[in-house]
Amino acid sequence: MASVNKCDQNKYFLDALNLFFETQWLYSTPVTDLLAKRILDSFPKDWLNALQALENQELNATVVKKAIEPRWPESLKNFVEKCKYIDRLPPINTVSSTILPKNFQIGLSDKKQHEIVHLAHLVHKQCALHKIKIIVDFGAGLGYVCQLLYHLYNYKVLGLEKNEANVNKARNRQAKMYPDSLAYVKYYCCDLTCNSVEMIETILHNEFQENSDVCLIGLHACGDLSIHASKIFLDMKAARIFIMISCCYHKLSISTSTKINTGKQYFNNFPLSDRLKSAILDANFDIGVFLRQPFLRLACQEPADRWNDMSVETHSQHSFYVLARAVLQLYANENGFYLKKRTRKGTRKSQCLNFETYIKDSLNRYILRSLRSEESEESEESEESEESEEQDVQSNLDVHEKKMIELWKNHCGKLKVVEMYTALQLMLQAPAESFILQDRLCWMHEQGLDATIIPVMNKQLSPRSYAIVSWKK
Ligand SMILES: C[S@@+](CC[C@H](N)C(=O)[O-])C[C@H]1O[C@@H](n2cnc3c(N)ncnc32)[C@H](O)[C@@H]1O
Repeated sequence: MASVNKCDQNKYFLDALNLFFETQWLYSTPVTDLLAKRILDSFPKDWLNALQALENQELNATVVKKAIEPRWPESLKNFVEKCKYIDRLPPINTVSSTILPKNFQIGLSDKKQHEIVHLAHLVHKQCALHKIKIIVDFGAGLGYVCQLLYHLYNYKVLGLEKNEANVNKARNRQAKMYPDSLAYVKYYCCDLTCNSVEMIETILHNEFQENSDVCLIGLHACGDLSIHASKIFLDMKAARIFIMISCCYHKLSISTSTKINTGKQYFNNFPLSDRLKSAILDANFDIGVFLRQPFLRLACQEPADRWNDMSVETHSQHSFYVLARAVLQLYANENGFYLKKRTRKGTRKSQCLNFETYIKDSLNRYILRSLRSEESEESEESEESEESEEQDVQSNLDVHEKKMIELWKNHCGKLKVVEMYTALQLMLQAPAESFILQDRLCWMHEQGLDATIIPVMNKQLSPRSYAIVSWKK
């Protein structure tokens, strides 16, 4: 696979950095704080006017297809164009649904069935080409894909997983549901790091008495795991193919260079490639300010495709819940409270778009607690004073409700703005994910590996749907 032209890659990283730096207001603050932190004040007025003038279908098309209207302000057109250009994720062909054997459907959601069948299919396509018969699954979970790879294609599979309870469940499922596989599919409990090569080689040798080539895979390998896996792939001689679908980018470990109280964050494994690191240095960006966990969270949100054909009613419902929750947060902030989730959550009943019902329902799910009691929680002040404070708040719930309704009246005109804000944020999701995967891909190229990004699943069913695939010559 030809590696991407160096200049083009530098320009790509620099343009992406500029885009994310300029649009921090769209992703750096949790939406619950939209009002409390006055985030909507950052919305350029001419952007808002242009977006609010769109019909529902036009708005959906802007978000999903990045459709641009000639009459828009140049800066908005540029934003949409840049989102389109920074998103290098290959288009996903609508993948046909494949039916799993009956005993593989039990207890598995449609999403999980879809994921394992399509990953297994890709793994087999690659392994058959290279005559590989052994697979190592990183972060095997309950072993769904391990079992399927054996069942459909007879691979020997080693499932590695750090959570002991998962390993036990995977072994129990295997013994109960797939006893024929016991000699061919093995599960091991281990916390993988980039230094795990020798351990994996030893387990493989002991279990399968072979030193043949292997394929390393991962289905939704979260946080650092997919990075450890890439480094293991590089160092492990017998590893010939690598197929990794990542998820939970925001779980990447934070580096010790992050200083508490500065609000900045740096990560051990992001950025990864020398090219992105030097683009950051050359342009003098302090990425600790804007490429923090909220950015990584944005990259693993639902994709823009979920606005495909979204109805006016669904939009109204969404903006109502976002704004109503933001009003609740604003009320708490302005009155010296914080919102604590009750341990036993009440069920959400407020399906109608009515703030009075919403508030009643929310006050069943959250407790308004005084910020002073948060401090005393830390300083272990007496339980009695906490209790009496809580009783005080609870006995005044009617007053709080009334004041919240007043606050709602002041802000309910912002429903449309909230939906436009979500539209712009959604447009940034694919560029953010693409940027992270391009960095990982670039690192693989820098190590002399052939690597590419392959779409595996239907994004609407399974949002983290891209695999980084690499082969050793
Ligand atoms: C999102 S789950 C995916 C599980 C499974 N692949 C699936 O798709 O059903 C990620 C799994 O990776 C495991 N994991 C995370 N870090 C790991 C590590 N360093 N070593 C081994 N397993 C790890 C977690 O315990 C978790 O079960």
